[in-house]
Amino acid sequence: MKIKIAPSILSADFACLGEEIKKVESCGADMIHVDVMDGHFVPNITIGPLVVKDIRKATKLPLDVHLMIKQPQKFINAFVAAGSDMLTVHIETISKLKIKNLKLKLKKKGVKLGVSLNPGTALIKIKNMLDLVDFVLVMTVEPGFGGQDFMPEVLPKIKKLRGLFVGDIAVDGGINKKTSRQVIKAGANVLVAGSYIFKSKDYKESITRLKCTV
Ligand code: DX5
Ligand code: ZN
Repeated sequence: MKIKIAPSILSADFACLGEEIKKVESCGADMIHVDVMDGHFVPNITIGPLVVKDIRKATKLPLDVHLMIKQPQKFINAFVAAGSDMLTVHIETISKLKIKNLKLKLKKKGVKLGVSLNPGTALIKIKNMLDLVDFVLVMTVEPGFGGQDFMPEVLPKIKKLRGLFVGDIAVDGGINKKTSRQVIKAGANVLVAGSYIFKSKDYKESITRLKCTV
């Protein structure tokens, strides 16, 4: 499968966000990963639909919006209107029935739906909805902050998921040159990376390194 790179702007310089996004776009990024946090589902607060709306103007790349919020349904319309191309909700925050309705709604709008699970959440929780979602985002750190260490204990879950799911499997948290090798081997094909890219001197080199991991 083609390896896609999704730089997470959480580690970008927010004082010049538009420039940072343009830079990763020109350096080979496949999409822009936007981390939305509400201070309830995770112990941190980041950005909302207003910022997504402006980011939309800065790039042609798909906006991959990761909702780490307690009541995702409440904000879906706002994030769709802001220009999200992909929306990810956490299985810890939503029921299967609501995922089903959400899929129908997003399909009409041409927005892709992803489901995410925390490191401690078992695969069984999403097993019966794999036919509903467009992709799965496996957290490889506890969500909330960039720059944390990759959790290798999640690798068997990725491997198991790849045996059940043919769509995109994204991984998020602690991805670098070394861990990208491990997650790709386990079956992931979309690498979300924040600090490895934005804290590096050469974005092109970092993105290329991740892409050419194997
Ligand atoms: C964490 C976020 C990640 C974060 C990853 O809750 O979902 O997208 O930005 O950052 P790194 O790549 O630095 O671990
Ligand atoms: Zn994320």
